[in-house]
Amino acid sequence: MEKVKTGIVGLDDLLDGGIPKNNILLISGGAGTGKTIMSLQYIYNGAKLYNEPGVYVSTDQTEDEIRNQAKAFGWDLKDLEKKKMIRLMHIDITTVKDHEYLRKISAMIKSIKAKRLVLDSMTTLTEFLAPSEIKDNSKLFDMMGSVIPVSMTETMLAKNTIAKVIKQFKDTNCTAVVTSELPETTNWLSRDTVSEFLCDGVILLHYMALGEKDFSHLEVRKMRQTKHKRGTFELHFTPKGLEVKEEEKFG
Ligand SMILES: Nc1ncnc2c1ncn2[C@@H]1O[C@H](COP(=O)(O)OP(=O)(O)OP(=O)(O)O)[C@@H](O)[C@H]1O
Ligand SMILES: [Mg+2]
Repeated sequence: MEKVKTGIVGLDDLLDGGIPKNNILLISGGAGTGKTIMSLQYIYNGAKLYNEPGVYVSTDQTEDEIRNQAKAFGWDLKDLEKKKMIRLMHIDITTVKDHEYLRKISAMIKSIKAKRLVLDSMTTLTEFLAPSEIKDNSKLFDMMGSVIPVSMTETMLAKNTIAKVIKQFKDTNCTAVVTSELPETTNWLSRDTVSEFLCDGVILLHYMALGEKDFSHLEVRKMRQTKHKRGTFELHFTPKGLEVKEEEKFG
């Protein structure tokens, strides 16, 4: 099976070579655990090291903020954008209209024949989109609300949006990474509780502070069709980006 390398030191070995081609990988973790840096590094390495064009879609940061975050690690996105190897797209969740963003993402993928795709983050997109869809379909939801509690219709909508997004990503020719926020204490692998089942793979990022020391670590929770390594591995934030230390394993 063809594997798509992340190029992140240590990670491809954990994944038995990389992400299976055309799969969707969910990166889930709490605030500041490295979800954005990891997904950006996947797109940057694809373009820089493997000659694979990539589209990076962000709900949380503008294009300039993404470029600046990359610059902090010495990654020149502007140059790769000029060479049509990378396209950045910011979805403004306060103004986005029902699924027009999916058409835009498709057009961007086609414009550079992208092989890699990132959505950062699925949580923001679905949590903001669900209420706006309720407004757009108010009659339908008035009717549904009379038989189902409103909070439940919102949850159902968010899940429906996730399913739609993931289906659309599956239909592209891309190997995709989507990020999801994870509350500090939960038994689920994502805040929405469905992405982990719809995605082919799940990587969990954790942060832990003990006295004056703190640790970041990574766990490959699942990866369909892959004999991935199990356990928890140290994650390091270096001046060149993230690195996974394979040998030092916790518990
Ligand atoms: N230039 C840098 N060098 C080293 N570490 C950095 C650098 N910039 C950020 N970091 C570390 O990375 C963390 C943020 O990573 P990132 O933005 O990928 O997290 P995230 O999981 O996307 O967070 P959020 O939930 O806010 O979206 C910071 O909290 C900091 O510890
Ligand atoms: Mg982020």
